Amino acid sequence: MPILNHPFNALVIGSSGSIGTALMDLLQQHPLCEKVIGIHRQSVPSIDYEDVDSIADAAQALAAQGPFQLIINTIGVLHGEHFTPEKRLDDLTADSFSALLNTNTIGPALTLKYFVKLLDPQHSVMATLSAKVGSIEDNRLGGWYSYRASKAALNMIIKTAAIELARTKPNAALIALHPGTVQSRLSKPFGGELKGRPALEAASDMLNVLLALEKSDSGSFLSYSGEKLPW
Ligand SMILES: NC(=O)c1ccc[n+]([C@@H]2O[C@H](COP(=O)([O-])OP(=O)(O)OC[C@H]3O[C@@H](n4cnc5c(N)ncnc54)[C@H](OP(=O)(O)O)[C@@H]3O)[C@@H](O)[C@H]2O)c1
Repeated sequence: MPILNHPFNALVIGSSGSIGTALMDLLQQHPLCEKVIGIHRQSVPSIDYEDVDSIADAAQALAAQGPFQLIINTIGVLHGEHFTPEKRLDDLTADSFSALLNTNTIGPALTLKYFVKLLDPQHSVMATLSAKVGSIEDNRLGGWYSYRASKAALNMIIKTAAIELARTKPNAALIALHPGTVQSRLSKPFGGELKGRPALEAASDMLNVLLALEKSDSGSFLSYSGEKLPW
Protein backbone atom coordinates (compact mmCIF):
# COMPACT_ATOMS: atom_id res chain seq x y z
CA MET A 1 0.00 0.00 0.00
CA PRO A 2 1.37 3.48 -0.85
CA ILE A 3 2.67 5.40 2.18
CA LEU A 4 1.14 8.70 1.06
CA ASN A 5 -2.41 7.49 0.53
CA HIS A 6 -4.12 10.26 2.51
CA PRO A 7 -3.82 14.06 2.88
CA PHE A 8 -0.25 15.18 3.54
CA ASN A 9 1.91 18.18 4.40
CA ALA A 10 4.94 18.71 2.19
CA LEU A 11 8.24 20.55 2.44
CA VAL A 12 10.46 21.33 -0.53
CA ILE A 13 14.07 22.16 0.34
CA GLY A 14 15.76 24.14 -2.43
CA SER A 15 12.44 25.51 -3.71
CA SER A 16 14.21 28.31 -5.66
CA GLY A 17 15.71 25.88 -8.20
CA SER A 18 14.12 24.77 -11.46
CA ILE A 19 12.99 21.39 -10.15
CA GLY A 20 12.18 22.81 -6.71
CA THR A 21 9.92 25.51 -8.22
CA ALA A 22 8.15 22.92 -10.39
CA LEU A 23 7.56 20.66 -7.38
CA MET A 24 6.11 23.60 -5.44
CA ASP A 25 3.73 24.42 -8.31
CA LEU A 26 2.52 20.83 -8.55
CA LEU A 27 2.14 20.32 -4.81
CA GLN A 28 0.22 23.61 -4.43
CA GLN A 29 -2.39 22.22 -6.83
CA HIS A 30 -2.37 18.60 -5.68
CA PRO A 31 -5.69 17.55 -4.11
CA LEU A 32 -4.00 15.42 -1.43
CA CYS A 33 -1.49 18.11 -0.42
CA GLU A 34 -2.96 20.15 2.43
CA LYS A 35 0.06 22.45 2.87
CA VAL A 36 3.40 22.90 1.15
CA ILE A 37 6.31 24.97 2.44
CA GLY A 38 9.37 25.79 0.38
CA ILE A 39 12.73 26.88 1.75
CA HIS A 40 15.95 28.01 0.07
CA ARG A 41 18.89 30.37 0.57
CA GLN A 42 16.71 33.52 0.56
CA SER A 43 13.59 32.24 2.36
CA VAL A 44 12.61 32.68 5.99
CA PRO A 45 13.80 30.42 7.52
CA SER A 46 16.70 30.03 5.09
CA ILE A 47 18.91 27.06 4.33
CA ASP A 48 22.40 27.65 2.99
CA TYR A 49 25.00 24.90 2.79
CA GLU A 50 27.75 27.53 3.09
CA ASP A 51 26.38 28.14 6.59
CA VAL A 52 26.09 24.75 8.25
CA ASP A 53 24.19 26.10 11.26
CA SER A 54 21.36 27.24 8.98
CA ILE A 55 20.39 23.58 8.44
CA ALA A 56 19.64 22.85 12.11
CA ASP A 57 18.15 26.34 12.55
CA ALA A 58 15.75 25.85 9.62
CA ALA A 59 14.64 22.46 10.93
CA GLN A 60 14.04 23.93 14.37
CA ALA A 61 12.11 26.88 12.93
CA LEU A 62 9.83 24.54 10.96
CA ALA A 63 9.25 21.96 13.69
CA ALA A 64 6.05 23.64 14.90
CA GLN A 65 4.60 23.46 11.36
CA GLY A 66 5.21 19.74 11.12
CA PRO A 67 5.03 16.85 11.12
CA PHE A 68 5.58 16.52 7.38
CA GLN A 69 4.57 13.43 5.45
CA LEU A 70 6.64 14.40 2.39
CA ILE A 71 10.03 16.14 2.34
CA ILE A 72 11.96 16.58 -0.91
CA ASN A 73 15.49 17.99 -0.91
CA THR A 74 16.46 19.29 -4.36
CA ILE A 75 19.63 21.18 -3.42
CA GLY A 76 22.61 20.37 -5.60
CA VAL A 77 25.34 21.90 -7.70
CA LEU A 78 27.31 20.85 -10.79
CA HIS A 79 29.22 23.97 -11.77
CA GLY A 80 30.05 27.32 -10.21
CA GLU A 81 31.90 30.56 -10.79
CA HIS A 82 35.22 28.89 -10.10
CA PHE A 83 34.61 25.29 -11.16
CA THR A 84 33.17 23.15 -13.92
CA PRO A 85 32.89 19.34 -14.18
CA GLU A 86 36.25 17.67 -14.85
CA LYS A 87 36.84 16.07 -18.24
CA ARG A 88 39.97 14.29 -17.08
CA LEU A 89 41.82 13.44 -13.86
CA ASP A 90 44.23 16.31 -14.50
CA ASP A 91 41.35 18.78 -14.07
CA LEU A 92 40.60 17.64 -10.51
CA THR A 93 41.32 20.23 -7.78
CA ALA A 94 40.84 20.11 -4.02
CA ASP A 95 38.83 23.33 -4.08
CA SER A 96 36.26 22.23 -6.65
CA PHE A 97 35.97 18.74 -5.18
CA SER A 98 35.37 20.07 -1.69
CA ALA A 99 32.82 22.62 -2.98
CA LEU A 100 30.81 19.82 -4.59
CA LEU A 101 31.13 17.55 -1.59
CA ASN A 102 29.90 20.35 0.64
CA THR A 103 26.75 21.07 -1.40
CA ASN A 104 25.93 17.62 -2.77
CA THR A 105 26.92 15.38 0.13
CA ILE A 106 27.62 17.07 3.49
CA GLY A 107 24.73 19.54 3.28
CA PRO A 108 22.16 16.90 2.25
CA ALA A 109 23.51 14.49 4.91
CA LEU A 110 23.05 17.10 7.64
CA THR A 111 19.64 17.92 6.16
CA LEU A 112 18.70 14.26 6.64
CA LYS A 113 20.07 14.39 10.19
CA TYR A 114 17.88 17.34 11.22
CA PHE A 115 14.82 16.96 8.97
CA VAL A 116 14.05 13.27 9.54
CA LYS A 117 12.98 14.45 13.01
CA LEU A 118 10.19 16.42 11.29
CA LEU A 119 8.85 13.37 9.44
CA ASP A 120 5.54 11.93 10.56
CA PRO A 121 6.35 8.66 12.39
CA GLN A 122 3.03 7.17 11.16
CA HIS A 123 3.62 7.52 7.41
CA SER A 124 6.19 9.67 5.59
CA VAL A 125 8.63 9.90 2.73
CA MET A 126 11.86 11.88 2.41
CA ALA A 127 13.47 12.01 -1.03
CA THR A 128 16.84 13.57 -1.80
CA LEU A 129 17.63 14.35 -5.42
CA SER A 130 20.67 12.43 -6.54
CA ALA A 131 21.85 11.72 -10.11
CA LYS A 132 22.27 8.59 -12.20
CA VAL A 133 25.86 9.66 -12.90
CA GLY A 134 26.43 8.96 -9.18
CA SER A 135 25.89 5.27 -9.89
CA ILE A 136 29.24 3.43 -9.74
CA GLU A 137 27.90 0.46 -11.66
CA ASP A 138 26.38 2.61 -14.40
CA ASN A 139 29.54 4.69 -14.97
CA ARG A 140 30.50 4.05 -18.57
CA LEU A 141 31.59 7.46 -19.84
CA GLY A 142 33.90 8.59 -17.04
CA GLY A 143 34.62 12.29 -16.37
CA TRP A 144 32.75 14.54 -13.92
CA TYR A 145 34.86 13.13 -11.06
CA SER A 146 33.70 15.43 -8.27
CA TYR A 147 30.00 15.44 -9.17
CA ARG A 148 29.89 11.67 -9.62
CA ALA A 149 31.75 11.09 -6.35
CA SER A 150 29.63 13.59 -4.40
CA LYS A 151 26.39 11.92 -5.54
CA ALA A 152 27.78 8.39 -4.96
CA ALA A 153 28.67 9.43 -1.41
CA LEU A 154 25.22 11.00 -1.01
CA ASN A 155 23.66 7.70 -2.09
CA MET A 156 25.62 5.87 0.61
CA ILE A 157 24.41 8.34 3.24
CA ILE A 158 20.78 7.85 2.16
CA LYS A 159 21.09 4.05 2.14
CA THR A 160 22.74 4.03 5.57
CA ALA A 161 20.18 6.43 7.05
CA ALA A 162 17.35 4.28 5.63
CA ILE A 163 18.74 1.25 7.48
CA GLU A 164 18.84 3.23 10.73
CA LEU A 165 15.36 4.66 10.17
CA ALA A 166 13.90 1.20 9.58
CA ARG A 167 14.63 0.65 13.27
CA THR A 168 13.72 4.07 14.69
CA LYS A 169 10.92 5.24 12.33
CA PRO A 170 9.78 2.11 10.50
CA ASN A 171 6.89 3.88 8.73
CA ALA A 172 9.14 6.45 7.05
CA ALA A 173 10.88 5.82 3.73
CA LEU A 174 14.10 7.50 2.60
CA ILE A 175 15.08 7.36 -1.04
CA ALA A 176 17.58 8.77 -3.53
CA LEU A 177 15.73 10.09 -6.60
CA HIS A 178 17.14 10.74 -10.09
CA PRO A 179 15.18 13.43 -12.01
CA GLY A 180 16.53 12.61 -15.47
CA THR A 181 18.05 15.33 -17.62
CA VAL A 182 16.07 18.47 -16.93
CA GLN A 183 16.21 21.98 -18.36
CA SER A 184 17.67 24.04 -15.53
CA ARG A 185 20.46 26.39 -14.45
CA LEU A 186 22.43 23.32 -13.43
CA SER A 187 22.25 21.55 -16.79
CA LYS A 188 22.27 24.59 -19.12
CA PRO A 189 26.04 24.77 -19.79
CA PHE A 190 26.02 21.04 -20.69
CA GLY A 191 23.28 21.04 -23.32
CA GLY A 192 20.44 20.67 -20.83
CA GLU A 193 18.15 22.95 -22.86
CA LEU A 194 18.38 20.58 -25.82
CA LYS A 195 18.88 17.22 -24.12
CA GLY A 196 16.67 17.86 -21.12
CA ARG A 197 12.95 18.17 -20.64
CA PRO A 198 10.90 20.82 -18.85
CA ALA A 199 11.23 20.79 -15.05
CA LEU A 200 7.45 20.53 -14.68
CA GLU A 201 7.38 17.27 -16.65
CA ALA A 202 10.21 15.76 -14.59
CA ALA A 203 8.66 16.97 -11.32
CA SER A 204 5.30 15.46 -12.27
CA ASP A 205 6.91 12.07 -12.95
CA MET A 206 8.87 12.23 -9.69
CA LEU A 207 5.76 13.13 -7.72
CA ASN A 208 4.00 10.08 -9.16
CA VAL A 209 6.93 7.92 -8.00
CA LEU A 210 6.82 9.48 -4.53
CA LEU A 211 3.06 9.00 -4.21
CA ALA A 212 3.38 5.33 -5.12
CA LEU A 213 6.22 4.56 -2.68
CA GLU A 214 5.75 1.71 -0.26
CA LYS A 215 7.63 1.06 2.97
CA SER A 216 9.67 -1.64 1.27
CA ASP A 217 11.07 0.98 -1.17
CA SER A 218 12.99 2.71 1.61
CA GLY A 219 16.74 2.71 0.97
CA SER A 220 16.45 2.54 -2.80
CA PHE A 221 17.82 4.64 -5.65
CA LEU A 222 14.96 5.36 -8.04
CA SER A 223 14.62 7.10 -11.35
CA TYR A 224 11.80 9.55 -12.24
CA SER A 225 10.19 6.63 -14.10
CA GLY A 226 10.14 4.49 -10.96
CA GLU A 227 12.94 2.26 -12.28
CA LYS A 228 15.32 0.95 -9.61
CA LEU A 229 18.84 2.18 -10.40
CA PRO A 230 22.03 0.30 -9.54
CA TRP A 231 24.14 1.90 -6.81
N1 LIG B 1 18.93 19.25 -14.08
C1 LIG B 1 19.35 18.02 -14.31
O1 LIG B 1 19.47 17.60 -15.49
C2 LIG B 1 19.68 17.10 -13.17
C3 LIG B 1 20.09 15.78 -13.48
C4 LIG B 1 20.40 14.92 -12.42
C5 LIG B 1 20.28 15.37 -11.11
N2 LIG B 1 19.89 16.65 -10.85
C6 LIG B 1 19.80 17.06 -9.45
O2 LIG B 1 18.56 17.70 -9.22
C7 LIG B 1 18.68 18.68 -8.18
C8 LIG B 1 18.02 19.99 -8.61
O3 LIG B 1 18.71 20.51 -9.72
P1 LIG B 1 18.10 21.62 -10.71
O4 LIG B 1 18.32 21.08 -12.07
O5 LIG B 1 16.73 22.06 -10.27
O6 LIG B 1 19.17 22.78 -10.49
P2 LIG B 1 19.01 24.32 -10.13
O7 LIG B 1 17.87 24.95 -10.88
O8 LIG B 1 20.36 24.90 -10.30
O9 LIG B 1 18.61 24.29 -8.55
C9 LIG B 1 19.57 24.00 -7.58
C10 LIG B 1 19.03 24.32 -6.21
O10 LIG B 1 20.09 24.10 -5.26
C11 LIG B 1 20.25 25.29 -4.49
N3 LIG B 1 21.62 25.42 -4.01
C12 LIG B 1 22.77 25.35 -4.74
N4 LIG B 1 23.84 25.53 -3.92
C13 LIG B 1 23.33 25.71 -2.67
C14 LIG B 1 23.89 25.94 -1.39
N5 LIG B 1 25.22 26.04 -1.22
N6 LIG B 1 23.09 26.06 -0.32
C15 LIG B 1 21.73 25.98 -0.46
N7 LIG B 1 21.13 25.79 -1.64
C16 LIG B 1 21.91 25.66 -2.72
C17 LIG B 1 19.85 26.41 -5.42
O11 LIG B 1 19.62 27.59 -4.66
P3 LIG B 1 19.75 29.08 -5.32
O12 LIG B 1 18.50 29.30 -6.10
O13 LIG B 1 19.90 29.96 -4.14
O14 LIG B 1 20.98 29.05 -6.20
C18 LIG B 1 18.60 25.80 -6.04
O15 LIG B 1 17.53 25.87 -5.15
C19 LIG B 1 20.18 18.76 -7.87
O16 LIG B 1 20.44 18.01 -6.70
C20 LIG B 1 20.84 18.11 -9.06
O17 LIG B 1 22.09 17.52 -8.75
C21 LIG B 1 19.58 17.52 -11.85
